[in-house]
Amino acid sequence: MVLIEGRIVRWLNPAARLIFSAAEHPTGRPLVEVVRDHRIEALVARAQQAGLEQTIEVELPLSGRRLQARAVPFGTEAVGLLVRDISRVRYLETVRQQFVANLSHEMRTPLAGLDLAAQTLSGQLPADGDARSFIDRVIQESQRLQAILRNLTQLAALDAQGVEVDHAPFSLAELVRELVDRYQPRATAASLEVRVEMADGRIEALGDKGKTDQALEKILDNALKFTSAGEVVVSARDDLSRVEITVRDTGVGIPPRDLPRIFERFYKVDRARGGQPGSGLGLSIARHLVELQGGTITAESTPGAGTLVRVRLPRAPLTSR
Ligand SMILES: Nc1ncnc2c1ncn2[C@@H]1O[C@H](COP(=O)(O)OP(=O)(O)OP(=O)(O)O)[C@@H](O)[C@H]1O
Ligand SMILES: [Mg+2]
Repeated sequence: MVLIEGRIVRWLNPAARLIFSAAEHPTGRPLVEVVRDHRIEALVARAQQAGLEQTIEVELPLSGRRLQARAVPFGTEAVGLLVRDISRVRYLETVRQQFVANLSHEMRTPLAGLDLAAQTLSGQLPADGDARSFIDRVIQESQRLQAILRNLTQLAALDAQGVEVDHAPFSLAELVRELVDRYQPRATAASLEVRVEMADGRIEALGDKGKTDQALEKILDNALKFTSAGEVVVSARDDLSRVEITVRDTGVGIPPRDLPRIFERFYKVDRARGGQPGSGLGLSIARHLVELQGGTITAESTPGAGTLVRVRLPRAPLTSR
């Protein structure tokens, strides 16, 4: 904790003296000489000007330590600067991310081998009987595991620093039509109707086409998975500043107490009672993909009546049409 008045450091507690140990007698000195980082100095100035609390995370160039700094203004001149060394937290996060990335990578090869062996065996077994039902089960379960692994791999890739995100205009109308076409066979097999609702066939979004497609796939997958009868409707519209895609279904719905949590990693409604297969990762990946593009994702639901998931993205400027 550092107390600052104007640009001058007035007081530091022992922990702050340890973090900013470069200046020998810090009290009474200008802030920049004590913290030796212009980003922290600018943070304090912003808090003074705005009269509002400001937070940043900085990596110190020499020590490589990560600090979280919070500037809290008191009155017009005085600011309390709270600094927390979060190097260890960030380090553990990196370790966790690497662990997930490595584990999912290592598990991919043996699982693919298992799947291949089961498929080969399946080709040699008679069309019915016990052996047939067991081998079908083996194939089904190994494919489920592979799907979980794909989600984990995707999440690990999104967690890694420096994910590349396109920022270009693309035809949302086209993307939605292609997406729905892809899911048509699955809907038909489940006796569900899936259709597109779109007034304007020229809607263009600004962002990453591939990532938007992946996010909508996760949402549509859920809509079909959690709906036993009725329809799934994908609609798209735009206004002056953004585009909106909604996926609504006539499925089981989500209880109000679970709704705020469905975008969390591994969160599933009714996990205890079994229910539908899935790792609970789909929507957290979808949210990640949408937010990377500066968009938002929300859900509304009525248990027993259905669910609506809404994705908003920046819209392409009119001139690009
Ligand atoms: N359209 C929907 N209707 C009803 N419940 C839903 C719907 N979409 C999501 N949910 C609920 O939210 C939970 C989280 O969804 P999410 O897509 O993250 O995981 P999942 O589908 O269970 O697993 P995964 O997507 O990893 O295969 C689901 O388990 C389900 O309980
Ligand atoms: Mg899902």
